[in-house]
Amino acid sequence: MKRDLLSLKNLTLEEVEILILRAQDMKEEVKKEMLHPRLKGKTLGLLFEKTSTRTRVSFEVAMAQLGGHSIFLSTYDIQIQRGETIKDTARVLSSYLDGLVIRTFAQSVVEEWALHASIPIINGLTDLHHPCQILSDLMTIREKRGNLKGLNLAYLGDGNNVAHSLLEGASKVGMNITLACPKGYQPKEEIVKAARTDAAKHGSRVEITSDPRAAVKKADILYTDVWVSMGQELQKSGMTEMFRPYQINESLLKLADPQALVMHCLPAHRGEEITEAVMEGPRSVIFEQAENRLHVQKALLEMFLKSPKKPSAKK
Ligand code: CP
Ligand code: NVA
Repeated sequence: MKRDLLSLKNLTLEEVEILILRAQDMKEEVKKEMLHPRLKGKTLGLLFEKTSTRTRVSFEVAMAQLGGHSIFLSTYDIQIQRGETIKDTARVLSSYLDGLVIRTFAQSVVEEWALHASIPIINGLTDLHHPCQILSDLMTIREKRGNLKGLNLAYLGDGNNVAHSLLEGASKVGMNITLACPKGYQPKEEIVKAARTDAAKHGSRVEITSDPRAAVKKADILYTDVWVSMGQELQKSGMTEMFRPYQINESLLKLADPQALVMHCLPAHRGEEITEAVMEGPRSVIFEQAENRLHVQKALLEMFLKSPKKPSAKK
């Protein structure tokens, strides 16, 4: 049975733990120059409708380190651009590829691909979720702190795709999460509700506020993302001033735990959601987060692509 990663809801807590540990092992293997061709003969497609640096390159390098191949496809270069349906394209690509990472706008698009493809579909970012990013973030936090359960994460800024996946990820692993977002830019209510239910099962809390100073008190991790996500440039033009109090700067950082980690999924707009000093300061683990994308991606590909390929495309 093929499986998809459309959001972190598709993974159990045990699977998240396995992925983090496996990614850590795979990171060690690179240091020791002991790469194993676990995905020899497998080919991964990367179908992107938005720009990317980390997601694209880390998946491509991940496949190379695992002995497989990858093919980058821009949505604008394939026949979908001329009206070929997702249904037909998914059937055809399923007969060539062993898995497909998709970066697009609507979550319904990755859902449609998953419905028609007989290969695993991995969400490489939609307007609603960014699950691969948050797996790397959880790995980074565990690497730095030795555990996840019971830690306090404060997210500041826009209640966007990264915020939604953080809500799902934190509540799954039993981390307390507080989101401080301006009114009108808070995360989707149904995602908050589901995260609260999950958090209750794992003994943690989910809080939503518009007060950034209250959110960071006692925080072990401060996390932010751009105020304007890809595709929102017109809709948010001139609106970013209301985000100013949510900037992670040195005075806000002083309110958090003195050992607090600072995280950002990147790309960053220095001087907007985070200052240069904090980004380059001693609490920042931002570039380790980015590096860990590569190792989490390998663990993910091993989990999702290892099973034998189906004999033919879905009818
Ligand atoms: N964090 C992240 O997904 O970066 P890219 O947009 O560069 O892939
Ligand atoms: N929220 C950002 C994340 C980029 C990795 C965006 O969607 O543009």
